[in-house]
Amino acid sequence: MTQYSLEPVLDAAERVLRDRTDSVPRLALVLGSGLNGLADQAEDPVVVGTESLSGYPRSTVEGHRGRLVFGRLGACPVLFLQGRVHAYEGHDLDAVTLPVRLAARLGATHVLLTNAAGGINPAYAPGTLMWIVDHIDWVRRRPYPGPVGESEARPGAWARPAVPPYDPEWYRRAAATADALGIPTVMGTYLWTLGPSFETKAEIRAFAGLGADAVGMSTVPEADAASELGMHVLGLSTITNAAAGISSGPLNHEEVLEAGRAVQDRLSTLVRAIAADLA
Ligand code: HPA
Repeated sequence: MTQYSLEPVLDAAERVLRDRTDSVPRLALVLGSGLNGLADQAEDPVVVGTESLSGYPRSTVEGHRGRLVFGRLGACPVLFLQGRVHAYEGHDLDAVTLPVRLAARLGATHVLLTNAAGGINPAYAPGTLMWIVDHIDWVRRRPYPGPVGESEARPGAWARPAVPPYDPEWYRRAAATADALGIPTVMGTYLWTLGPSFETKAEIRAFAGLGADAVGMSTVPEADAASELGMHVLGLSTITNAAAGISSGPLNHEEVLEAGRAVQDRLSTLVRAIAADLA
């Protein structure tokens, strides 16, 4: 596993980015599989390839371009984070959570985490947009093993938050925004698996029994880290496929990307309205 030293990477990235733009994002938007096109909506974009940031983790997954896009959605300054990295790629959780940490340093107070997920709840068909109101951490990998109380730079790192990291007030506003636009959404519990392989049918049956509505390979570490940093967190899953055994037939990553692209118009309308509400 990559061993990571967080603070120097953040310091260096902040210096490079501050040379490129003085934009202070209010909203950080983490783009999940197949959802990268949302960054094309950025007005007055300043695009920085993450390869120019020393130590910034590289995504190796198709559909995850490594770019930071500073721009606006209407009146709201937004930082679009393209090129999510996943724990299954061998990154430790410092690396996985670096983009949201960087967003917080640059001034973002809100983070919207999007992802592609498999539907476990049989009512959540492909194309469904699901607000994440709670999660199940099936990976249970902690970011910073070490003596309790010695990580002042990372408050709360040693203890699990007792409450879900997702901001219930922001979720209610966002759901009302979706309703007002006539965009159907549901809410649910997201279960994080390490991946990269999809689940077995037996695993999905078990996860259904645990109360999971959707399953995916991201979001939970970023949500926890952002919440620990005091950011407002909103999670939005695009159900791209029925999870294993919920429908017939094998799953593949191409299907996930395709379904993500199919909802992109609805999703970008919704994200624009959420940003407008924050501005
Ligand atoms: N399982 C896990 N992760 C996923 C899935 C799935 O079915 N679909 C999209 N991401």
